[in-house]
Amino acid sequence: MARKKLIAGNWKMNGLTADGTALAKGIASEVKALGKVQCEFLVCPPFTLLAAVKKALRGAKVALGGQDCHFENKGAHTGDISPLMLTDLGCSYVILGHSERRADHGESNELVCKKAVAAHQAGLKTVICIGETLAQRDAGQTIDVCSRQILGSVPESATSANTVIAYEPVWAIGTGKTPTAQDVEEVHAAVRKVLAQKLGRGNASKMRILYGGSVKPSNAAEFLSLPDVDGALIGGASLKVEDFMAIAKNSGC
Ligand code: 13P
Repeated sequence: MARKKLIAGNWKMNGLTADGTALAKGIASEVKALGKVQCEFLVCPPFTLLAAVKKALRGAKVALGGQDCHFENKGAHTGDISPLMLTDLGCSYVILGHSERRADHGESNELVCKKAVAAHQAGLKTVICIGETLAQRDAGQTIDVCSRQILGSVPESATSANTVIAYEPVWAIGTGKTPTAQDVEEVHAAVRKVLAQKLGRGNASKMRILYGGSVKPSNAAEFLSLPDVDGALIGGASLKVEDFMAIAKNSGC
C-alpha cells in the first residue's frame, strides 16, 4: 500500500513577517525546483503569518496548515481561531493535540477529538499528535499511552483521507534526543493496529503516521525508510530552508 510521504514543518511560535515570508519563499522556490515531487509538503506557521505565507507559497505545491483550532466556527472565544477561519485563509490542514498544547493549555484527548470533528466538518485535514513523556517511557508505558491517545483523540469521522497521525515522543522534541529506529517502527506498527481496531483495516493501512522529535537532515533517511513511517513533523529544522529541504531530499522526495 503506497502512502505518499508528508514532509511537514511546524514553525511553532516563531517568525515575524519578514523572516516568515522569506522562509516560505525559500521553501516554495526549492520545491518548484524539485519538479515532479514524490512527497507532499506542508508548512504550519503561526496564525499571524498564514496570509503572508499563503501569498509567498503561490504556485508551489506546498500546503498550508494551522497549529491549532477551536471546535466552534464562531462565537465568544477570545483569542481562539476557528476551523472556518483557517480554511478562509487557504489552509488545508491543522495540527491538533500537539504535546505543547496538551501541556501548556491542558488539552485532553476529548478536547482534541472535538476539535478534530469540527476541523473535518470544515474540510480541513487533521494532523493529530500523540506521544509519551520520558517518565512514561521509563515506566514501559509508551505503547499504552499512545494507544489511549489514539482511542481518545481520533474521532469516528477520521479517515485516511482527512487524518494524519504524528508520533512525537515528548522527550525527543527540541532535545536532539531520538528513539532508535527500531523503537519508532515498533510504536508506529502498534499505532496502526489500534487505528485498525478503531477505523477499520482499510483506513488504517492507508493512514499516514509521521514521526516527529529532533528530525534533522542526518537522521531523516533512517526514520523515513521505516515501513510504517510515512513522513515527518519537523520543528526546529523546519525554520531553515536548507535543513527542511535536505530532510525531504534525504527521505527520497
Ligand atoms: P523538533 O523538530 O524541534 O524536535 O520539534 C518537533 C515537533 O514538536 C514538531 O511538531
